[in-house]
Amino acid sequence: MNKLSSQYMGMTLKSPLVASASPMTSTLKSALELEEAGISAIVMRSLFEEHCKKDHEMAHQMLHDQDIGHAEANSSIAPPILQKLKTTEDHYLETLQSMKKELSIPVIASLNGASLEGWEEHAANIQQAGADALELNIYSIAANLKESADQVEHRYTEIVRRVRETVDLPLAVKISSQFSSPVHFIEKLKMAGADAVVIFNRFYQPDINLQTLDVDNKIQLSDSSDLLERLRWTAILKHQVAIDIAITGGVHSAEGVLKASLVGSNITQLCSVLLLRGPDIITELNHDIERWLDANEYESLEQLRGSMSYSNNSDPSSNERSNYMDMLDSWGR
Ligand SMILES: Cc1cc2nc3c(=O)[nH]c(=O)nc-3n(C[C@H](O)[C@H](O)[C@H](O)COP(=O)(O)O)c2cc1C
Repeated sequence: MNKLSSQYMGMTLKSPLVASASPMTSTLKSALELEEAGISAIVMRSLFEEHCKKDHEMAHQMLHDQDIGHAEANSSIAPPILQKLKTTEDHYLETLQSMKKELSIPVIASLNGASLEGWEEHAANIQQAGADALELNIYSIAANLKESADQVEHRYTEIVRRVRETVDLPLAVKISSQFSSPVHFIEKLKMAGADAVVIFNRFYQPDINLQTLDVDNKIQLSDSSDLLERLRWTAILKHQVAIDIAITGGVHSAEGVLKASLVGSNITQLCSVLLLRGPDIITELNHDIERWLDANEYESLEQLRGSMSYSNNSDPSSNERSNYMDMLDSWGR
């Protein structure tokens, strides 16, 4: 068996290095470069709920302008004018099909949205187009005074349940860390049909430009300090919820991948590091991970996976509390 072999949602990957959804995974050309450099799977850039809605609205508008009735617009046989129109989803499915044809690594499609509606149809189309798995990125800032924490969580689990009822694909759910009881919530995602959880979405943080008094929406790539929160929660989750774990956020080095594996992640997803350093970094990371395993006399990554999770600790909360006290006390020591 290959030393870096990693199991993720029933797939055997040649290493834990997976390209996360980003511009690097949106075209066949860049996906081929990632494969060439040694990536073990890719998550395609997402198909966004907003783009699909816009296409749908545009189609209705065109029919309205042409005086074609809504009943016809909604019928399963599209009128000729719509048959010619290529939607964002059509393009997405074509890219997926070409990736499946040309790549030998697994291709995980990604749907990105926040509302309850519409996921099933897109998931079914993605399954039909041949994806190996599906990642649902439910990117939602809970900013509605009238929506309780329970209702937010219910929306998430309901999305997963509906998609699970529609497709047989291995299903991952990408979430943020901002839930009051993440372990309990992730167990609910699992019960709803998720095979893996991808932790965590980085919420993009707009800044304020004091010169112009505008909101500055410039994207900030991660650095390895972003990884620490993910390490903590993977260590806590690993032996409490029987679900595969992918870490996304702050994986920039072989050390990061090794730490992620020690706390129990099945795979690590890479984005910022690929955007900053290009696909060649993958070859370097695979090589450095193997070198570390050899130097530390591990036969495989599997051998150390999860060995630094909270497996023998029945009360991670109190352990975290005493770590917190120790950290504070360590100042000035
Ligand atoms: C330019 C850019 C585009 C992204 N597009 C997507 C996307 O389409 N879908 C998605 O789920 N995540 C998307 N992400 C988030 C990444 O997949 C990843 O989860 C995040 O950047 C954290 O990983 P990192 O620290 O390795 O960058 C994007 C990130 C960046 C920087």
